[in-house]
Amino acid sequence: MASILGGITSSHIPAVGNAIAEGKTQEPYWKRFFDGYEPAKAWLDAVKPDVLIVVYNDHGLNFFLDKVPTFALGCADVYENADEGWGLKPVAPFTGDAEFSWHLAESLVEQEFDICTCQEMKVDHGFVNPIRALYGNREEGSGDSWPIKTIPLAVNTVQHPVPSAARCLKLGQALGKAIESYPEDLRVVILGTGGMSHQLQGERAGLINVDFDLECMERIISEPEWMTQFSNAEIMAQAGTEGIETIMWLVMRGALADDAKLIHKHYHVPISNTGAGVLVLENERLSY
Ligand code: DHB
Ligand code: FE
Repeated sequence: MASILGGITSSHIPAVGNAIAEGKTQEPYWKRFFDGYEPAKAWLDAVKPDVLIVVYNDHGLNFFLDKVPTFALGCADVYENADEGWGLKPVAPFTGDAEFSWHLAESLVEQEFDICTCQEMKVDHGFVNPIRALYGNREEGSGDSWPIKTIPLAVNTVQHPVPSAARCLKLGQALGKAIESYPEDLRVVILGTGGMSHQLQGERAGLINVDFDLECMERIISEPEWMTQFSNAEIMAQAGTEGIETIMWLVMRGALADDAKLIHKHYHVPISNTGAGVLVLENERLSY
């Protein structure tokens, strides 16, 4: 049976991709931020997952505002990145696992999550940059390939109405059941991306709320239901309009055991416009 080894969280800031591609990770502005990924890389090295399920939001590369699914699952064997501005060079294509994706889709729909299934799906910085931060860069055309299979799970955090924190936590619980009912012996890690507090537009552009970020990180570790008391408007009032992305961490958390163990926690602010948090949580149900 497939097993969930644990979960990781990461922001997905475009400038992080540039810093990696341009070899700036050890410069003073970036060093402490990237140091926060070292324990996550070491953990991945130790647990050796076969597949990463990456929960992220598309920012207009694959879905534009004319058609935005609330939840969309990649069901392909390959996912391409493309020029999305920001000066980011596209990275090498990602290998998926369509068979596993279709199992997840069937199980999620059975559990009343009527997701959109995508047999073609371009992945943007929301998906690419956390993987770059954990595995390094693989530029398109370089001949390099990614060392792990990946499955994109896109959550709409861009075009309102956006799903609630409570709905995201429930999606995670359903995703956990879907993964663990797959008959193949796959080792799975879930990556929850986005957040933490940031607002890129309007009068409050530049808003960062360190206290709210730190409280969210603490609660997501051991009491993720805490976040579900807030409406999206309340989360955005605290964390900024784009800070709503943090609800995607709840999809990761919901898929893990209630007593998942904290392996690593790191917070750095500001990076670009954002408060950036890294968590590594290990599923205690497993031994390896
Ligand atoms: C930034 C953060 C994001 O999540 C994003 O999608 C774009 C930009 C930033 O901090 O600059
Ligand atoms: Fe974003």
